[in-house]
Amino acid sequence: MDWGMKNRLSKIIKPKTGRSVMLAVDHGYFLGPTSGLEDFRASVTPLLSFADTLFVTRGMLRTCVDPNTDVPVMLRASGGTSILGKELLHEGVTLSVEDAIRLNAVGIGYSILVGADWERDTILDFARYVDEAERYGLIAMAVTAVGKDMAKDARYLALASRMAAEHGAHMVKTYYCEGFEKVVDTCPVPIVMAGGKKIPELDALTMAFNAVSAGAVGVDMGRNIFQSDSPVAMIQAVRAVVHENTTPKEAFQLFQELSEKEARAGKKSSGVAADDSVKV
Ligand code: 5RP
Repeated sequence: MDWGMKNRLSKIIKPKTGRSVMLAVDHGYFLGPTSGLEDFRASVTPLLSFADTLFVTRGMLRTCVDPNTDVPVMLRASGGTSILGKELLHEGVTLSVEDAIRLNAVGIGYSILVGADWERDTILDFARYVDEAERYGLIAMAVTAVGKDMAKDARYLALASRMAAEHGAHMVKTYYCEGFEKVVDTCPVPIVMAGGKKIPELDALTMAFNAVSAGAVGVDMGRNIFQSDSPVAMIQAVRAVVHENTTPKEAFQLFQELSEKEARAGKKSSGVAADDSVKV
């Protein structure tokens, strides 16, 4: 990895803690106006100062994110299918490396569909994308997407994550599972945990805690933040877990305190000011 690439990686994974809270808000690329992101700008703006990196599509970045933001950006580079189509798992390239650089991205995220009918296409396209990304020093993160009928167990996720690394991924985004240590220990590049479907806040914080305890460098979490009743409180609680190893119970307490404070201030939908004691 050359200087530029190392420097970009340090924008994502904070050198101070070796960890990262990535905020995933790319869901519209196959789901359209996902619950919680209907008004993208209103939902995402209050979260930006608490995110180490924003994972987003180029369209929403251009139209709904203030270019004066100092949050590093990672762009979704695969897609082309929707929940309405028959081939949801047959994603292809949706973004050129040139446009990613023009938009000042530190990296791109690309889904590979190991075990699905179209695995070969997605893996070969990803490997070609890595070649391009390497040429310009962009970080390529593979997302080990999982079809709804596929097992999300350690055996599968370790296979998919390792394959992503073998094909050149600089980072891997994958789901949490029982025996997550196996996934982390057999993958030579940093792993961030995807949040998955919305679950109760304490459960999501516990999952994040278990993932970083097992060796993940952090999270790339979406629905469990922006679909929370208090997204700004939730992202700060996630930060506490990821950057400060706060226990899930304490982080949940922090979540409750911040959301009550937010409610009292009558700012439930617009968020509260950044709390430097939590933000790293
Ligand atoms: C699909 C994705 C999503 O678009 C998204 O980034 C997932 O985030 P979360 O599961 O935390 O809502 O990567 O594979």
